[in-house]
Amino acid sequence: MTTASAPGKVYLFGEHAVVYGEPAVPCAISRRARVTAERREDGRLRVHAEDLSLDGFTVEYSGETDTPPDVDVSPDLVQAAMGYVDAAISQAREAAGTPEAGFDVTVESEIPLGAGLGSSAAVVVAGIDAATRELGVELSTEEIATRAYRAEYEVQDGQASRADTFCSATGGAVRVEGEDCRSIESPDLPFVIGFDGGAGNTGELVSGVRELRERYPFAASTVNTIGDIVRQGERALGEENIEEIGTLMDFNHGLLSALGVSSRSLDRMVWAARDAGAHGAKLTGAGGGGCIVALDSTEETETALRFTPGCEEGFRAELDDEGVRIEQ
Ligand code: MEV
Repeated sequence: MTTASAPGKVYLFGEHAVVYGEPAVPCAISRRARVTAERREDGRLRVHAEDLSLDGFTVEYSGETDTPPDVDVSPDLVQAAMGYVDAAISQAREAAGTPEAGFDVTVESEIPLGAGLGSSAAVVVAGIDAATRELGVELSTEEIATRAYRAEYEVQDGQASRADTFCSATGGAVRVEGEDCRSIESPDLPFVIGFDGGAGNTGELVSGVRELRERYPFAASTVNTIGDIVRQGERALGEENIEEIGTLMDFNHGLLSALGVSSRSLDRMVWAARDAGAHGAKLTGAGGGGCIVALDSTEETETALRFTPGCEEGFRAELDDEGVRIEQ
């Protein structure tokens, strides 16, 4: 039996635009998904998943992956989560040269599903590491990141960048531009996260931006402008200028909103954070619902979020320098 874990992430800047070759800066956070893989001799795959939210519900699923589990979360989300586990196991089988290997897989996650904190990337990264090691093969972090990207790409019908999976595999702050992925220096960032209890459909949201971009030249320019914000943001990170990083996050949120990927509850949480004195706030990830990230080293934003209608949970998260790791 082998257990690996990998962190979730927030996007400081650049989601959506990264799909079109602009740079993005995701940062790993101290919330993890843990995947345990245990070899089965009959070649089958059985998945047991629990705690797929920050709190509130537990997914208990012990059937085969083609049996719908009886849970109070959207079946689409659960099916998507199982699709990621399947894809991770396929990558592990291929990497180890054992296409018939069967597994019992257990997923325990502190990261809400589909909420912009990189739950699927963390599950795929940890799943590939756990399953390959269980088969006696140790992959480099780079290879885990590459294989995790392929798994996401497959599940999301080709609509995925390398950002989430690379960040989850390596930890820390990273910069992704097309195939160029690297770790970057970052000051300690006082992340505060607001979660509305919901989730967005990444595939649909990415398609929506694609359609706008094809239809309107100014939507294409908006995507390019997000790239400019990221480049400016990298300079601000290098100068450890938290004030400017916050201003750029606000700007980035406005443009994501213009591209149609915000929501009423995300906007409400963003404004609650700004009103509470945060340096800046924006949605994180695909949008449509889920999480916002703000920068505030005081208690104010966290407290304000807890009292914001539509915000289910407000909490602080540290930048996590550790990527995928084996758990004892
Ligand atoms: C989703 O977490 C981030 C997007 O940019 C899609 C991707 O990069 O794969 C919306």
